[in-house]
Amino acid sequence: MRINQANAIELLLRGEVVAIPTETVYGLAADANNVLAVAKIFATKQRPANNPLIVHISSTDKVLDWASTFSPLAQRLAAAFWPGPLTLVLPARAEVSAAVRAGEPTVALRVPAHPVTLALLRDSGLGLAAPSANRYTQLSPTTAEHVESGLGADIPVLDGGACQVGIESTIVSVQDDHWQLLRPGMIDVAAITAIAGQPESTLDIAHTPKAPGQHLLHYAPRTPCRLFDSKSALTAYAHNKPQVAALLFGDGPAITPRDIHLPADPAQAAAHLYAALHTLDAMQAELILIESPPATAAWDALRDRLQRAAHDPGKQND
Ligand code: TXA
Ligand code: MG
Repeated sequence: MRINQANAIELLLRGEVVAIPTETVYGLAADANNVLAVAKIFATKQRPANNPLIVHISSTDKVLDWASTFSPLAQRLAAAFWPGPLTLVLPARAEVSAAVRAGEPTVALRVPAHPVTLALLRDSGLGLAAPSANRYTQLSPTTAEHVESGLGADIPVLDGGACQVGIESTIVSVQDDHWQLLRPGMIDVAAITAIAGQPESTLDIAHTPKAPGQHLLHYAPRTPCRLFDSKSALTAYAHNKPQVAALLFGDGPAITPRDIHLPADPAQAAAHLYAALHTLDAMQAELILIESPPATAAWDALRDRLQRAAHDPGKQND
């Protein structure tokens, strides 16, 4: 159900959930200070309660409403990348509900770069807890249609068009002057290192922040997927198999009866990745063959999502 900004504010203030556009993927939002509203997010997504949520805020000024400290390093990252696809995991204030933090001592914060949602955050005055607006372990939505096909036509959606970045934010945990990457995204490690210096190299187990949501089985179409090291290996496998589909990078000849070619540029490919996987999933092929993107840092985030999409749940171990 498509709604406008006024409807969205009314629903959020009443403790309901609303799907909102961001530049990365659509989020399923609720008032982060309302424990019952936050519980509706977990129920709608069928998400385990031990997986914490990102709180979306309208500007850097709001960080200390949620975090107990905003270290100089975290401030530099915020200044460099907000509004934008970077989530900072910072020590939480005691008042932040355990439901949002899933019991962690930290809180994840992000100022998203989407005009519709920035206006919603500003005009409502709320901090919005919002995971991606899909059922747990399923594909993330990058259009209002994806949200409705995944969560049902009754879910209220603020339609902000197709997401421009297309994959989830980079997540960085910051402790004083140390940082660690918890989830790769289109803001890559080199860009973060340029602002924040080298990441913490030795993992101190006792102090290593968990990334509870980093289950291997994530971002997966319903159709089984298989990742191939090269286009030639994929082509050889596809030979004489009429029931397969393929996700390929760059131009090239047809390989299966159902090919989708993503652009050869990583940012362009990311912007279309989930839409392509949604389309491939709807083709009812017996297997989706996926070409591995180039083994360079610019493709790290896409490679991460594709490895997860192709992960065999039978072998899941986390
Ligand atoms: O781009 C995005 O980040 C999108 C849009 C909607 O902002 N959101 C998103 O949310 O991808 P979600 O819930 O699907 O993924 C958030 C990840 C989860 O893996 C969760 O475990 C992790 O962030 N996370 C949240 N709070 C955390 C915390 N305090 N410590 C460590 N990891 C945290
Ligand atoms: Mg998600």
